[in-house]
Amino acid sequence: MGARSMVPAAVTLFLFLSFVGLCNGGITGNYVRQVGPTADMPKEAFPPPPGFNTPEQVHITQGDHGGRGVIVSWVTPAMRHPNVVTYWAEGAKLKDKQKAHSKIYSYRYFTYSSGYIHHATIEALEYDTKYFYELGRGNGTRRFSFTTPPKVGPDVPYTFGIMGDLGQTSASIQTLEHYMANPKGQTVLFAGDLSYADDHPYHDNERWDTWGRFVEKSAAYQPWIWTAGNHELDFAPELEEYTPFKPYLNRYHVPYRASQSTSPLWYSIKRASAHIIVLSSYSAYGKYTPQYTWLKQELPKVNRAETPWLIVLVHSPWYNSYNYHYMEGETMRVMFESWFVQSKVDIVFAGHVHAYERSERISNIKFNITNGQSAPVKDPSAPVYITIGDGGNIEGLATSYTEPQPSYSAYREASFGHAILEIKNRTHAHYTWHRNQDNTPVAADSLWLYNRYYYPVEEPSPWE
Ligand SMILES: *[C@@H]1O[C@H](CO)[C@@H](O)[C@H](O)[C@H]1NC(C)=O
Ligand SMILES: *[C@@H]1O[C@H](CO)[C@@H](O)[C@H](O)[C@H]1NC(C)=O
Ligand SMILES: *[C@@H]1O[C@H](CO)[C@@H](O)[C@H](O)[C@H]1NC(C)=O
Ligand SMILES: [Fe+2]
Repeated sequence: MGARSMVPAAVTLFLFLSFVGLCNGGITGNYVRQVGPTADMPKEAFPPPPGFNTPEQVHITQGDHGGRGVIVSWVTPAMRHPNVVTYWAEGAKLKDKQKAHSKIYSYRYFTYSSGYIHHATIEALEYDTKYFYELGRGNGTRRFSFTTPPKVGPDVPYTFGIMGDLGQTSASIQTLEHYMANPKGQTVLFAGDLSYADDHPYHDNERWDTWGRFVEKSAAYQPWIWTAGNHELDFAPELEEYTPFKPYLNRYHVPYRASQSTSPLWYSIKRASAHIIVLSSYSAYGKYTPQYTWLKQELPKVNRAETPWLIVLVHSPWYNSYNYHYMEGETMRVMFESWFVQSKVDIVFAGHVHAYERSERISNIKFNITNGQSAPVKDPSAPVYITIGDGGNIEGLATSYTEPQPSYSAYREASFGHAILEIKNRTHAHYTWHRNQDNTPVAADSLWLYNRYYYPVEEPSPWE
């Protein structure tokens, strides 16, 4: 018996596994690579740029509600000044260069003292225009660029990349490089858990600096839309650090006031044809709390005639069939799921579980204390829930699942990767998930998503 007879055996095994998956309603990808935790890269892998007081850890995010604003953030290590960003549209004359000044923050954490953290908001930019911007002075000057989104509108095509739980290991580098190798992504939706500094002794905040340097190659050139995860809490009474989210809130600013939010931990933006709502799994969301009150007022404001696609980012998943963080999202689901179904949310992206999972369109909102209807059922008004916590951080992959695969779970696989959401028009968006081991164009999971407001019909499963 030679190698030839192995092939049919392998194929048979694959078909068998696929078949087992389908019987239970979904697919469990058997492509499991790296299992154990991976160490973070040495700090030297993310060196500061050369020059004196050179701006570093440069990142941008949307700076207003509709897409004409940008928040530019950076750190200067030695001096507070210059605290200015100079910017101009591509092709502009020298005299048309404009300036915005930053507000400067700094904080201490245990024995760590931060550099000068700058946040400058640029407003009233032209839509759909390439801008250059410059930071620093003398031999510490650096230049970057970004492109503003098209004006908000129902059929504006736009492409988002989605990552979560990134960290700073060799796998994290692979994920980011893999995302950047695909020229399609215009804005990153980040599902929380950024640096994993808190996995180091004393929450070594230099790991927040190395992470800022690591992601700069993407985050300085396209907006990253931030969501807070549990690794942003940095709540450490044993270090006398009592203020939750202290490093995160100093370093990552978002335009929360533009959506009448009272906290940077929950807010919304409109970008091209999408209305994006960011929620906080680690802030109060019970009835009467600020987050609850804000979301209740926010959902009726969504104008699908302007932004057909309603997308939610939250760190802890509501539907998760891994044996990791199982049911941690349950209390928030109980609070808000019926609102999402009523509002016809299209997609909910979460992180937290270090693996990939995509749900069917299901809801579990019928239950009351007397009727026993406590199982999820197919629901054409429900969002698709996607767990994309597979960025590749220091804690390794989540590799064990609840068995059998629940019927609500359409596809799950313990591999690192990222996703791409290509909105085409008000009815169609093409969604793909890319595992790190594959070449750029290869999608390990992909399907057409139909808009819940304009075209609420069932999507054909890619696996049937
Ligand atoms: C950069 O400028 C600073 C002061 O402006 C100077 O001390 C330093 O030597 C310069 N470095 C280089 C590489 O020219
Ligand atoms: C519970 O659900 C049942 C069936 O859907 C319904 O008839 C009943 O009125 C509900 N009870 C309450 C208290 O809402
Ligand atoms: C929307 O995009 C899809 C996919 O590209 C296309 O098949 C469909 O015809 C488009 N709809 C309209 C109204 O253009
Ligand atoms: Fe997490």
